[in-house]
Amino acid sequence: MEALRVQDLCKTYITNKRQNNVLKNVNFTIEQGEMTAVMGPSGSGKSTLLYSVSGMDRPTAGQVILGGRKITDLKEKELAQVRLNEMGFIFQQMYMLKNLTVLDNILLPAYQSGRKDRSRKEIDAYALALMHRLGISEIAGNDITEVSGGQLQRACICRSMMNHPQILFADEPTGALNRGASEEVMKELMKLNQEGTTIMLVTHDMKVAAKCSRILYIVDGNIRGEFELGTCYSQKLEAQEAADITNLLRERERKLNAWLIEMGW
Ligand SMILES: Nc1ncnc2c1ncn2[C@@H]1O[C@H](COP(=O)(O)OP(=O)(O)O)[C@@H](O)[C@H]1O
Ligand SMILES: [Mg+2]
Repeated sequence: MEALRVQDLCKTYITNKRQNNVLKNVNFTIEQGEMTAVMGPSGSGKSTLLYSVSGMDRPTAGQVILGGRKITDLKEKELAQVRLNEMGFIFQQMYMLKNLTVLDNILLPAYQSGRKDRSRKEIDAYALALMHRLGISEIAGNDITEVSGGQLQRACICRSMMNHPQILFADEPTGALNRGASEEVMKELMKLNQEGTTIMLVTHDMKVAAKCSRILYIVDGNIRGEFELGTCYSQKLEAQEAADITNLLRERERKLNAWLIEMGW
């Protein structure tokens, strides 16, 4: 099943009366359950692509079809509902409201969603269950300034999952994290993906991309190539031996690296 179809997507910015064609007829599809990484040089249009596809920004031309529905034709209000209820977002800079606790930040999208199918009690229980799952129960009552970068990014993942999105969009989700925290965050994203959430992420980190099922390589607003790595896991991630995972990842990184060199990385 197709999760996302992008057709002839263009994005042009006009700055100082000069036209900057950032995305030039981009076409791709993402199947349900895929974990797709977008890579490419700095300034090639990766963030612009993610924002145009996810309706955070309006493309100049082209279509985005999410779960069979053309979202590029939606009015702003309807699009906001789609973003809130069907998509999750994770960014490099972890945007959370400063005057709320971590838990209250996580709860916010659920309270805003306008859905009537869950009680407050159910929403609260779900938020706490997500926090437990991501190993951050102990920071529920903390101010967001009182937690580490890795903890905060895991809280952002909880927040992004509150409304059970079909698809998660992440722009450099590990970009501000050290290696250890980055690995923890990736492990959680892989688990969510294994449970059925489709993920599209932007990264310049080979180790992050090697955990994804497919890589799209973008240069100067065009997709220059794509590389199918296949899903990273054959069974529950927890059940695998650490040494096996290390070997598996090493092999995937080696393959990806060879391809990236071909692409001019
Ligand atoms: N809001 C904006 N207004 C004008 N130009 C922009 C805007 N956002 C991005 N750009 C331009 O689009 C190009 C691609 O940027 P971006 O998508 O952020 O690249 P990447 O994420 O691959 O580093 C750059 O030339 C950048 O200056
Ligand atoms: Mg970017």
